[in-house]
Amino acid sequence: MQDALGAVQSVLVLGGGSDIAQATVRALVRRRARTVVLAGRDPNSLTGAVDELRGLGATTVEAVAFDADATDTHDDFVAEIFDTYGDFDVVLLAFGVQGDQPRAERDGRVAVDIVRTNYVGTVSVAVPVAERLRAQGHGTIVALSSVAGERVRRSNFVYGSSKAGMDTFLLGLSDSLVGSGVKVMVVRPGFVHTKMTEGMEPTPLASTPESVAAAIERGLAKGSEIVWAPPQFRFVMSALRHLPRPLFRKLPI
Ligand SMILES: NC(=O)c1ccc[n+]([C@@H]2O[C@H](COP(=O)([O-])OP(=O)(O)OC[C@H]3O[C@@H](n4cnc5c(N)ncnc54)[C@H](OP(=O)(O)O)[C@@H]3O)[C@@H](O)[C@H]2O)c1
Repeated sequence: MQDALGAVQSVLVLGGGSDIAQATVRALVRRRARTVVLAGRDPNSLTGAVDELRGLGATTVEAVAFDADATDTHDDFVAEIFDTYGDFDVVLLAFGVQGDQPRAERDGRVAVDIVRTNYVGTVSVAVPVAERLRAQGHGTIVALSSVAGERVRRSNFVYGSSKAGMDTFLLGLSDSLVGSGVKVMVVRPGFVHTKMTEGMEPTPLASTPESVAAAIERGLAKGSEIVWAPPQFRFVMSALRHLPRPLFRKLPI
């Protein structure tokens, strides 16, 4: 349960190694979150983050195994985590892969790997998470979508399509949860300097994990359903969404 001042007290992160997720939980712990479960493919790689969060004042911080691609395990995973740690105020869906677009255009298996993690993995785990949050009667699913899914670009349409899929799924899930006490907040960052984008040329309005974390905090405080990071993307994407395709194709993005 959030405390009397509305601060988040407990957070489950799926994709616990994500730079954006780690900046977000650091910010939430600074604002009194006390229980953090970081779930990732290799829990041992999360030891440094666990120590850091304990140092910032979190009292229960654990790293557990979770693979977004292992969809058969998701129901049991979610049941075990909620049975072990109790209610969560925030469940942050932060896993994702950029993938190799040139290879994915030529090899369907590579394309499916991207879609499996980003879209199928999200659908598979979001449904049992929503069920548990519905049962507890409160909580917010915060999902890292992307502006890339808002209008899919030629240069990364496989990733973009997977984000479009997860984004629209989560908006529908959000609608289905109205009245349950549970919310879904879809976060649409532009280019963020993280491991995922290392070595890539930044696009305009590039940001940092800390600024996305701040946008997430503001969104949680306001109860937002969609968060653009930075906020100017709301207007940029609104214009780009309606640009005729022959023109859109020519943009150097
Ligand atoms: N960086 C950007 O420009 C940007 C922009 C918009 C949206 N996003 C989205 O933000 C989210 C976080 O990305 P980030 O920028 O923080 O990148 P990141 O630091 O590379 O984080 C991505 C995380 O996803 C995890 N992951 C990948 N496949 C997984 C799987 N099958 N099961 C469990 N975890 C898996 C990775 O875990 P491992 O450590 O095991 O590899 C890694 O911790 C992603 O969904 C990304 O699409 C990023």
